[in-house]
Amino acid sequence: MKRLLIATGGGDCPGLNAVIRAVVHRASQEKDWEVLGSIQAFNGVLWEPTEIVPLDNKAVSGIHFQGGTIIETTNKGGPFAWPVKNGDGTWTTVDRSDDMIRKLQYLNIDAVINIGGDGSQRISNKLYEKGLNIIGVPKTIDNDLSSTDSTFGFQTAVQVATEAVDKLVTTAASHNRVFFLEVMGRDAGWIALNAAVAGGAEVCLIPEIPYDINKVKEALEQRFHRDRGFAVVVVAEGAFPKGGMPVFEQPKEPGYENRMLGGIARKLMTDLKEKGFKPEMRETVLGHLQRGGVPVAYDRVLSAQFGVKAFEMVLNQEYGKMVAYRHPEFVAVPLSEAVAKPNLVSMNNALVKTALGLGICLGT
Ligand code: F6P
Repeated sequence: MKRLLIATGGGDCPGLNAVIRAVVHRASQEKDWEVLGSIQAFNGVLWEPTEIVPLDNKAVSGIHFQGGTIIETTNKGGPFAWPVKNGDGTWTTVDRSDDMIRKLQYLNIDAVINIGGDGSQRISNKLYEKGLNIIGVPKTIDNDLSSTDSTFGFQTAVQVATEAVDKLVTTAASHNRVFFLEVMGRDAGWIALNAAVAGGAEVCLIPEIPYDINKVKEALEQRFHRDRGFAVVVVAEGAFPKGGMPVFEQPKEPGYENRMLGGIARKLMTDLKEKGFKPEMRETVLGHLQRGGVPVAYDRVLSAQFGVKAFEMVLNQEYGKMVAYRHPEFVAVPLSEAVAKPNLVSMNNALVKTALGLGICLGT
């Protein structure tokens, strides 16, 4: 029997389980492959004792509509930056990639499918360069990978954010208030922009377009006549003012390298108040509600297509590549190319033009 190992890395994302199920179902049609899962990304391989679980059709039964990942995930550490505690209590990281590859050989693993975002696929590429038979499957609710038309989880996040706008509109209108909805999007404003267009927001602020607070104030004031009116502002967590910085904390957890964003909605309220903006304001931070729970049908379908294609890439030994959706095909792109450039919103983007055409203020 040949052995395939699946790992899920980075932040969780609706549709991960649907990919796992699709890989297992497709593999079960070949008589000579068994599938295993590494618990918590590659930690399951690196831990002593290892934590690796068998994944057969029974194990993945009915998981396609479950959020999260049945084999768990992490966005800390990894084989190239394994956290180790020093004698004085501080933390450092060590490269355990050779150790991991040796362990995979010992476990008779013939191929690996790594499902994850840009950070995870950078790890995939480095492992491939070290000789590992690895294939990537892209995952990000932020939709910030340029090599694929879309990623699963994104439509679910947009749906959750849009439903939040819909709800806030009714309460904002009832109280004549301005609501600030803070959504995910560290560097890319796709969730915010889509939710603003779908939900009919008045203002949308994203990391790619630093905003002018005076323009935001002006746009909001236009919505109020004789002190009556309401507005909804959708703001990506990574948005920031012209000449300013995003609001973030640098977590101290060992191996966690990302900035923890959050607080831009509150900052906008404070800054507008200081500028004399009169209407009542409230904030809602949507956070991980955008990532948890049931994937929408579009994401389940995309996940199924990624999973089946990924296993077929294993059969064809197309290692060092990532599955990508390039409408209407599913193609294999080299991992090095897949992670070279992020997919960010540009002023020329069609959806930006639509938003401006609808009269949505982008803070400029
Ligand atoms: O990259 C996906 C994402 O959801 C970002 O939009 C967000 O900034 C980040 O992950 C949150 O990560 P964590 O789960 O570590 O808080």
